Amino acid sequence: MKEKMFISLVLLMMALSSKAQTVTVHADKPGDVIPKEIYGQFAEHLGTCIYGGLWVGKDSDIPNQDGYRTDVLNALKELKVPVLRWPGGCFADEYHWMDGIGPKEKRPKMVNNNWGGTIEDNSFGTHEFFNLCELLGAEPYLSGNVGSGTVEELAKWVEYITSDGDSPMANLRRQNGREKSWNLKYLGVGNESWGCGGSMRPEYYADLFRRYSTYCRNYDGHHLFKIASGASDYDYNWTKVLMQNAGGNMAGLSLHYYTVPGWSGSKGSATNFTKDQYYWTIGKCREIEDVLKKHIEIMDEKDPKNRVALLLDEWGTWWDEEPGTVRGHLFQQNSMRDAIVASTSLDIFHKYTRRLKMCNIAQIVNVLQSMILTKGDKMVLTPTYYVFKQYNVHQDATYIPVDVECDMMEIKGANRKFDAKLPLVSATASKDKNGVCHISLTNVSVDKEQTVTVNLEGIKAAKATGTILCTANIDDLNTFDNPDKVKETAFKAVSVKNGQMKVKLPKNSVVTLELK
Ligand code: AHR
Repeated sequence: MKEKMFISLVLLMMALSSKAQTVTVHADKPGDVIPKEIYGQFAEHLGTCIYGGLWVGKDSDIPNQDGYRTDVLNALKELKVPVLRWPGGCFADEYHWMDGIGPKEKRPKMVNNNWGGTIEDNSFGTHEFFNLCELLGAEPYLSGNVGSGTVEELAKWVEYITSDGDSPMANLRRQNGREKSWNLKYLGVGNESWGCGGSMRPEYYADLFRRYSTYCRNYDGHHLFKIASGASDYDYNWTKVLMQNAGGNMAGLSLHYYTVPGWSGSKGSATNFTKDQYYWTIGKCREIEDVLKKHIEIMDEKDPKNRVALLLDEWGTWWDEEPGTVRGHLFQQNSMRDAIVASTSLDIFHKYTRRLKMCNIAQIVNVLQSMILTKGDKMVLTPTYYVFKQYNVHQDATYIPVDVECDMMEIKGANRKFDAKLPLVSATASKDKNGVCHISLTNVSVDKEQTVTVNLEGIKAAKATGTILCTANIDDLNTFDNPDKVKETAFKAVSVKNGQMKVKLPKNSVVTLELK
């Protein structure tokens, strides 16, 4: 008798401690459009992002199209890259664009002081960047030099790119082989102006922003979307002062947030980490939600009409460089942990698109949390690449509000400002222009499979099909010798009945489903 009572008690305790994993999708409630620019990318003259990653030059033995790597180009086309930020980052505030035009042999070299002192030969410049954007069908996002450049230099760059008249810069462009202007909408006026972009105070930079942006003119039907260099992480004062002093002059304000254990000392290995370090990382990545809310709150106060956009134009994981690679080149591997950071972050970004209009993961190839890694003529697609591919369906779709009720995990580890409790399921949903609903689900747990019940409110569906990205171990990754270890495959463990969907999510998995 006593034994029976004990067993019942244990069962009851188990039932209480493990709640059902429930996601409720409210297609009956309104949501904002998820701008495709939330899936933006960033390419800096840093390490092998440009040289060796995107660009090998026309004379290379590596197969290329006009100097751009064919394999990388094709892989990126699959991602539908909506916008590409260039040339930095910190590099932007030391970059002098005139060094990167005209005959290659005449282009002067420079030292890339921010990134390992590498010699930059300027063979990839304005023409090479804008032509790349055209090949990818991506909107260019130009980051202008305010830190060490002049107003005249930036003003002339805009004229060179966008003027179609008989203007001196348009004629110089023509002389260099490009007749018509390129499309340019997004113009960043400086980068990290509080740090590598000039170590400025917000009051001083706000004035400089006003001055520089005054002379960046709208030529011949082009209309620039001028972006002020924004805060990093928790620097709410920067946002406040910028909005106060220059809010009326800007179309957008940027923000940078990295999932990084800290800025001094080791950032930890990209490939070798403990379970506790993994959960800490997901907690840190989720903290972006609080950071976004606080910056948005300030913007709402100063700009109640919601005119100025917030652009998270640098985000992602930042680990120690891979052993054996060049210091300062920020080449890091990318595991399933990074993929979970990507899906969890995107799930959060979808919720804030009333104000948040663009995000640019750092960076597209060979730097930080990249989509693609290259070595000589070899290329691997990272787990993060596959998340971006799965999530493509959410670009320009209307966000569907989602509630998640799930088990939580206690986060251990120092240097934590964020909540100690981590939800083990992350989810997002949207309805595309054809009325098709997509749901993405992430099982954050490294230990257990989870069956999620998805309540489909306001959606009529009979079945769901989709793909899964899943690994046996959270530190699994793709290498040049084993490039296909982590890959999306068709997903079958889903059923739909009476307005409910049951999804069996293996540990370490990201699933995207289309409802039919
Ligand atoms: O993405 C790498 C660097 O991180 C960028 O150059 C800079 O803006 C940021 O600090």
